[in-house]
Amino acid sequence: MTPNPGLRLVKRDASGVDLAFRSDVLLGLAQIQKAVPARWFYDDAGSQLFEDITQLTEYYPTRAEAEILQGRSGEIADLIGPGRAVVEFGSGSSVKTPLLLSAISPSAYVPLDIAGDFLRASSAELAAKFPGLPVYPVEADFMRRVELPSEVADLPKLGFFPGSTIGNMIARTATDLLRSMRETLGTGALLLIGMDLVKDEDVLIAAYDDAAGVTAAFNLNLLTRINRELGGDIPIAAFRHEARWNDTFARIEMHLVAQSDIAFTVSGEQFAMSAGTSIHTENSHKFTRRSGQTLLAAGGWEPRARWADSAGQFLLVLAEACPPRSAP
Ligand code: TRP
Repeated sequence: MTPNPGLRLVKRDASGVDLAFRSDVLLGLAQIQKAVPARWFYDDAGSQLFEDITQLTEYYPTRAEAEILQGRSGEIADLIGPGRAVVEFGSGSSVKTPLLLSAISPSAYVPLDIAGDFLRASSAELAAKFPGLPVYPVEADFMRRVELPSEVADLPKLGFFPGSTIGNMIARTATDLLRSMRETLGTGALLLIGMDLVKDEDVLIAAYDDAAGVTAAFNLNLLTRINRELGGDIPIAAFRHEARWNDTFARIEMHLVAQSDIAFTVSGEQFAMSAGTSIHTENSHKFTRRSGQTLLAAGGWEPRARWADSAGQFLLVLAEACPPRSAP
């Protein structure tokens, strides 16, 4: 593994407060529909709770995607071919990344993540599992074009974006990301991307509101983090986790719903909520084959192959960067 100098991307004030976190929370809480961007879920406790979510019986996406990667590895490898640099958008999961890397004979692995510590830890783990594979972690915000290490400049690229993380963005943001992935990866690139499918509402709700309350704890942990890092006094016990299906946007929404009229302070600013109103914390858009295709096309990617798991719950799509062309 090549050591990375590690850009410091997080700006903090004199008392150590993450300035982007503070401004996202203060702006989000000042809106009529209160909302906090989902990226702030992932402090240490949040990252651990998220790992726990992926193990839940009700949370099918991780298992479904792993089943596809494992069961269709031959076809996937044939279409991708050997010798590509795999560029993963996000630090990589301990399960899915090894499944892909062992299926396809890559020449290098380049994980991109904004969380440097997590990135270095998971890169070291991966490098230990694949001793012959050069690993070049890059600490960067992949929502913009990323300069890849010079070592992989001449290799053909395969972007990897599992987990239906694309579904956590509204269409406009998802399109921007797909376009910047195309710029990051260059011409001739392929993209292997997970997209969770629209399905029975009960199955979806259960996946985001499990019986053991792990997803509830994950959602509520955001309030704990705000109180700790931004000097807040949010009465956490007054909130309840809720997963809702929004049929107009074909998405699961996670909310933190106030159970009574409350008032609280964050970073010296005052907020009030009446009973039944909520803080919107996450979207998880669900796709059909068509809506997935439309989104990819808007971002400049053309599907070459699609695989679903045996229960038909999740889709893994292999897409190719489309050349600019004239078409209606
Ligand atoms: N992208 C996955 C999904 O939407 C994983 C995920 C992101 C998630 N945030 C989450 C799962 C919050 C549960 C709760 O399903």
